[in-house]
Amino acid sequence: MILIDGKKTSSEIKNEIATRVAEIKAEGGKTPHLAAVLVGNDGASQTYVGAKVKACEEVGFQSTLVRLESDISEAELLKVVEDINENPDIDGLIVQLPLPKHISVDKVTNKIKPEKDVDGFTPANVGRMTLNWPAYVAATPYGIVELLKRYNIETSGKHCVVIGRSHIVGSPMSILMARNGYPGNATVTLTHSKTQNLAEICRTADILIVAIGKPEFVTADMVKPGAVVIDVGIHRIEDPSKKSGFRLIGDVKFDEVAPLASAITPVPGGVGPMTIAALLYNTLQSAEKKVFG
Ligand code: GUN
Repeated sequence: MILIDGKKTSSEIKNEIATRVAEIKAEGGKTPHLAAVLVGNDGASQTYVGAKVKACEEVGFQSTLVRLESDISEAELLKVVEDINENPDIDGLIVQLPLPKHISVDKVTNKIKPEKDVDGFTPANVGRMTLNWPAYVAATPYGIVELLKRYNIETSGKHCVVIGRSHIVGSPMSILMARNGYPGNATVTLTHSKTQNLAEICRTADILIVAIGKPEFVTADMVKPGAVVIDVGIHRIEDPSKKSGFRLIGDVKFDEVAPLASAITPVPGGVGPMTIAALLYNTLQSAEKKVFG
């Protein structure tokens, strides 16, 4: 069984990005610049945005964190996005989700200039990805694609089962695995809450991508021996034996599934660390005008 090490791979990618940034600076080019907009005081969002800003520093990017009160109006937030859209110094813009209930995520997402949409959430980028055009691909699917590539996992002709059809993970993942390219050319089954005989379908998967958001949902009886298992879930559960009082687990019951799998991502240290590397990569692509030209 191969343990797919997302922590190691993400730090390799960050090193590659840092090397390119140093070259750009040495050539007198502009430092890549990411702007992150954070609305309100959600604890998890603050942690994620903090990690993104820190990662920018690590690779030599400039970053701007725009913090806004949770009672900001939708119109005011749209104006903040518009101002960043028009700021020529900023290459990438992310608005951290979730947003307060009185603000439409769709309206805000649609306001982001596709050329700066390094989260890959806008209709323009989702459409471009679907058409197999150059596009910003959302961080989690992009991170998974990169892990499959760097671990030389064969995908052509394989049966890939994706559990979960979210806009951010399951749906784009299914499109990427089916497209004509590598990774891709898989026969894809996208499963969701209304799927019948889920365990039976999972047992036919050569590649099982689990993004259902339920702790230890996938058990050994759902996995074909030799399958590649990608676990997108991350959950905190209480564990008095740990100093912190908790530990992290995924959507897959790792201890019983790992011995069956030919390759598997752990939690933590699998898909999670790859998402930040993906965001940095998209921001570099934007600074170098590689996607929209
Ligand atoms: N909230 C959870 N994941 C993400 C992400 O990838 N991007 C943004 N902007 N918000 C998130």
